[in-house]
Amino acid sequence: MNIILLGPPGAGKGTQAKFLEDRFRIIQLSTGDMLRAAVASGSALGQQAKAIMNAGKLVSDSLVIQMISERIDQPDCQNGFILDGFPRTVPQAEALDRMLADKGLRLDHVIEMKVDDEALVDRITGRYSCAKCGAGYHDLFQIPKVAGCCDSCGGTAFKRRADDNAETVKTRLAQYHAQTAPILPYYQDRGILKAVDGMAAIDDVTRQLEALLAA
Ligand code: AP5
Ligand code: MG
Repeated sequence: MNIILLGPPGAGKGTQAKFLEDRFRIIQLSTGDMLRAAVASGSALGQQAKAIMNAGKLVSDSLVIQMISERIDQPDCQNGFILDGFPRTVPQAEALDRMLADKGLRLDHVIEMKVDDEALVDRITGRYSCAKCGAGYHDLFQIPKVAGCCDSCGGTAFKRRADDNAETVKTRLAQYHAQTAPILPYYQDRGILKAVDGMAAIDDVTRQLEALLAA
């Protein structure tokens, strides 16, 4: 099963992709995570992407298209994948269609996670993750069971993203509305767009997604 989770910054794409990976045995492909790994490694790609990401703007279409195409060819994607943060522009969506056709693959579901803009700033500025295993948390909405200790690996060091500040969030949201929201009619016209209420509690959104994907 190959799916796209579409939604603004902080909609819950990454949070829900983790649940879907376990539930459906498919792989999360987050272009944001891949780019952050490139930045952390100090590679040429990372150096190119760093300033753009920190400003909340989008890196070039050609760069992410090639990154995703190579990643989909890896053996762990054979059972299917969840695209998280890609495609993000109409040219990326068009390139994805061509890429999948070339690989003999197809999209099964495109799911929009609907969240009000007002909720997103709180979600993003409160987000942090385990420095060891990457498990995601939130100051208010997703708290570790034991304070200061990661539920998944027991790690005690946590980190926040460089682009998770109120100022950059505004640019990221503006980019979403200008560049990414136009993808919605693209998939609507193809009859594969569905939606979940991303304003609901995390567990509730998971249940909505499970119901939709199991149908
Ligand atoms: P990326 O990493 O994709 O960031 P984003 O799209 O801005 O999305 P986020 O990761 O911020 O949000 P999310 O939906 O995953 O939310 P999460 O589940 O963490 O991209 C970063 C940058 O990389 C871009 O700005 C761009 O520069 C570049 N880039 C990436 N892909 C690109 C592409 N294709 N083309 C060009 N450039 C690209 O949830 C957020 C918080 O809310 C968490 O703390 C969570 O605990 C909490 N939460 C989640 N769900 C709920 C809920 N239902 N109720 C309450 N709290 C919740
Ligand atoms: Mg994410």
